[in-house]
Amino acid sequence: MKNEILLLSGPNLDQLGSRSPEIYGVQTLDEHVARFTEQASAHGYSVRHLQSNFEGDLIEAVHEARASAVAIVLNAGALTHSSWALADALATFPGVKVEVHLSNPAAREPFRQVSTLAGVVNGTIAGFGATSYDLALEAVRRLLQGRAQ
Ligand code: DQA
Repeated sequence: MKNEILLLSGPNLDQLGSRSPEIYGVQTLDEHVARFTEQASAHGYSVRHLQSNFEGDLIEAVHEARASAVAIVLNAGALTHSSWALADALATFPGVKVEVHLSNPAAREPFRQVSTLAGVVNGTIAGFGATSYDLALEAVRRLLQGRAQ
């Protein structure tokens, strides 16, 4: 039985820790991924993580996930606000999809208040810092168990 969650991190998230810590917190991406992986594994899920600053890498990872993953959790960074190509790729993935953000883009600059991805995911969790990833995992678990009412 497939039990893999694909965790995707978009452009500039490799800079977490030093990038605008007042907005994104002081944790590095490695720390977020380690915490997510540990919690997921406690619930019986394996995690494959990819960070890329290139849109095409993320799109190809979504394509490949159709064969390997039951869920995708993605923080697409600024591609969230611009990438119809990533939205089209996500639309081809039949499993659970949760969009996640450390900050709350809805409370920030106007360009961040638009998401090209919101319409092709099950839902979005934003604004809780590192806790956003914990909540995204909980959302995935409930959606996979059919109890996300
Ligand atoms: C972000 C929010 C985006 O607007 C921004 O471009 C990021 C990070 C977040 O996690 O809060 O790179 O996705």
